[in-house]
Amino acid sequence: MSTQDVEPLNVEQIREDFPILQREFDGNQVVYLDNAATTQTPEPVVDTICNYYRQTNANVHRGIHHLSQEASIAYEEAHDRLAEFVGASGEREEMVFTKGTTEALNLVAYAWGLNELSEGDEVVLTEMEHHSSLVTWQQIARKVGAEVRYVRVDDDGTLDVDHARELISEDTEMVSAVHVSNTLGAVNPVGELADLAHDHDALIFVDGAQAVPTRPVDVEDIDADFYAFSGHKMLGPTGVGGLYGKKHLLEEMEPFNYGGEMILRVTKEDATWNDLPWKFEAGTPLIAQGVALSAAADYLEDLGMDRVQAHEEEMAEYAYDRLTEFEDVTVYGPPGDDRSGLVSFTIDGVHAHDLASILNDHAVAIRAGHHCTQPLHEKLGVAATARASFYVYNTREEVDALIHAIDDARQIFA
Ligand SMILES: Cc1ncc(COP(=O)(O)O)c(C=O)c1O
Repeated sequence: MSTQDVEPLNVEQIREDFPILQREFDGNQVVYLDNAATTQTPEPVVDTICNYYRQTNANVHRGIHHLSQEASIAYEEAHDRLAEFVGASGEREEMVFTKGTTEALNLVAYAWGLNELSEGDEVVLTEMEHHSSLVTWQQIARKVGAEVRYVRVDDDGTLDVDHARELISEDTEMVSAVHVSNTLGAVNPVGELADLAHDHDALIFVDGAQAVPTRPVDVEDIDADFYAFSGHKMLGPTGVGGLYGKKHLLEEMEPFNYGGEMILRVTKEDATWNDLPWKFEAGTPLIAQGVALSAAADYLEDLGMDRVQAHEEEMAEYAYDRLTEFEDVTVYGPPGDDRSGLVSFTIDGVHAHDLASILNDHAVAIRAGHHCTQPLHEKLGVAATARASFYVYNTREEVDALIHAIDDARQIFA
């Protein structure tokens, strides 16, 4: 999408909803560029959490009193809201609330993988998977004797789709791919991967942790079988996220956790399972968090996800262009005009942690490390990178502040 196609976000006005961005450290106003790790929470979402606890709080589905009924309705409607936000026409039945992307991956890996995978089967991942997918499938595959195979990442930081075509075979049962890489900023052709998987009667799980916050997502258009995201990366609270699953698959799957709320009828000998999605939400669920996540979806939709995407891309391109002006800086991933809103980079002779520490002296918050993609970093030939990631409230001036602080670090280590 061209950034010229849509009306730019009114960033100045958006920033008024985020008082945390006014905080100062040693006289410097914070420049928050760690959004791929977690985003800040706007006032309407904070208000939703507070109002929920002030006015509505009760346990859901087990009370006939007014508060429980109100809490139940708000919680159930939050599922419909998130289903709609990612394009799932099956509404709440196709939207399970989880703790986040990691738990969604574990849910499917345990509830589907342990039962459906067996020796000789293959799970196809990409070399740019986050550990939440990579480690989970690795361990489940080990338990059942299945093999994990990896689609190559090309030198330009994009996925080698031809290699995916070679790897995905009749033995493939699951393809699990990240939609937007949290290290490279690459946007993967997940629709194409879904077609490849389905051509071989395999399923596809899409990790949308960095995609749902940054672009319009339509799970049905992608034809994803499962699609996961985290609330705290899209202006929502921590501790809640979503797992979209095609209804027939969720119906066929065994539960992940057992206990209250997920059952229909229990005898001393056996139990039957509740309707979707409650079958996968054992125990007291994430009520306040889910309701607040729904408010975050409203906030983003009011901004317009196409405008959010355009802003992300503009920030990333500007940062990419400024960073590549330095001869001693290497930026990883696709070119500036073909990536989502983050840049991972290294500076010759400067460890990423030292860089992050000097940037912190300027109150510029970035992340340094392997960003939960150790095998990818091994491939890139570096132990750690520095990552700046942008969101709806970031400005070009903040990118300039990043560049200024980086220049300072370069002088110190020169
Ligand atoms: C691409 C990707 N997948 C999965 C995750 C895990 O998300 P969470 O920690 O919210 O479960 C992250 C978090 O950084 C991510 O960036």
